[in-house]
Amino acid sequence: MGVRAMSGKGAWHDLIALDEIEEGWVTRVDLGARRLAVYHTPSGFHVSLALCTHGGADLCDGYFDGHVIECPLHQGAFDVRDGRPISAPATRALKVFPCREEDGRLQIML
Ligand code: FES
Repeated sequence: MGVRAMSGKGAWHDLIALDEIEEGWVTRVDLGARRLAVYHTPSGFHVSLALCTHGGADLCDGYFDGHVIECPLHQGAFDVRDGRPISAPATRALKVFPCREEDGRLQIML
């Protein structure tokens, strides 16, 4: 499918086949230099940068439940739907990306 321009800024990028995403869990995906985390939640898929905004730990090694990813290093937590921190010591939001399903694959807007 490739890259498709949207409204002059950002474009959809192919990320991963839907059947490669762990059900109800978090899956690590590298896209170029970006390390991303793909979450399968009760409300569908969500994507964020994988590194914790507190100390840079890889959230893909954390604990995931529902819509909440808990950092493996200091147990800060984020809501993966919008990236907001919901538990100390995390205070800065996680960068999240719009995503969509297309032809059995997940795409994100960059
Ligand atoms: S590195 Fe994630 S809470 Fe500290």
